[in-house]
Amino acid sequence: ERPHILVASPTFPEVLDKLRQHFDVEPNLSDDAWTGEAFTSRLPGKVGAFLTGAQTVNAEVLAHAPDLKMVANMAVGYNNLEIPALEQAGVVASNTPDVLTETTADFGFALLMATARRVTEAEHYLRAGHWGKWSYDLLLGSEVHGSTLGIIGMGRIGQGIARRGVHGFGMSLIYHNRSQLDAATESELKAHYAPTKEEVLRQADHVVLVLPYTPAAYHLIGAAEIALMKPTATLINIARGGIVDDKALAQALQAGTIAAAGLDVFEGEPAFAKELLECNNVVLTPHIASATRTTRLKMAHLAADNLIAFFTTGQALTPVTTAR
Ligand code: GLV
Ligand code: GLV
Repeated sequence: ERPHILVASPTFPEVLDKLRQHFDVEPNLSDDAWTGEAFTSRLPGKVGAFLTGAQTVNAEVLAHAPDLKMVANMAVGYNNLEIPALEQAGVVASNTPDVLTETTADFGFALLMATARRVTEAEHYLRAGHWGKWSYDLLLGSEVHGSTLGIIGMGRIGQGIARRGVHGFGMSLIYHNRSQLDAATESELKAHYAPTKEEVLRQADHVVLVLPYTPAAYHLIGAAEIALMKPTATLINIARGGIVDDKALAQALQAGTIAAAGLDVFEGEPAFAKELLECNNVVLTPHIASATRTTRLKMAHLAADNLIAFFTTGQALTPVTTAR
């Protein structure tokens, strides 16, 4: 008998077809991810699960999943998975690194550009019928080329954004990361390492957050940190909701503490701090940084391939748990 797996969120039909060649699949053919009880009630009898960020797997969920051996998360971030609990239960987890790096970096840069140059605000202005005349001071934004790019979280995606900024737009780069880049990469990116995030916040014209979410990153950027930024600066979050205190950010945007912000992720998404809607100087997008058909398909295939590899060879391709 073939292993039974759960596909807990809707996904590409061709990826389901691939999984069906190896597994007995319970697919989610609805429009909505199975979460909570709808998810946990389907875990008994399943040895594997294809997940998205929608499903939480912690000790409590694992208590409902006596047969589970492997979960494949269709995302590079995996803060929805409690890794120590998975390791404790002997369940392997994988993510989808690399395949989304450049696409996500493209979006990070798009959000930076849209925020600095007020693209969505300008469109709303035009659509609302406010455009009566050309004016020398209409919707003045801030420079991107030649400015100072600040990156907090210099992983693969952060480096992709850095490369675009430094080589494409002549920006200077200051970054903060748990570990410093190797000398060759630092020199390629003309990168200045800041031992503290505060130094990045003080010096950068545009601050991009690309760090993985950990409990220690909760509200890493709050009112006190935003106050360190230049009044002309922009703040971009494509990392995870909860890293920025969105309510404090909305207040700072209203007060003019910083010029603008661009957010693709929100604390409690798809809910978000409604105060943000009161701010014209924020660009808001619904967690779409990796959302091209090509990349989402690659992510879904990589998640499926992780399940297939694990159940055929005993090794996941891109595990995030450590073997015991
Ligand atoms: C999306 O946020 C991801 O982690 O892939
Ligand atoms: C994710 O790929 C990262 O390291 O930023």
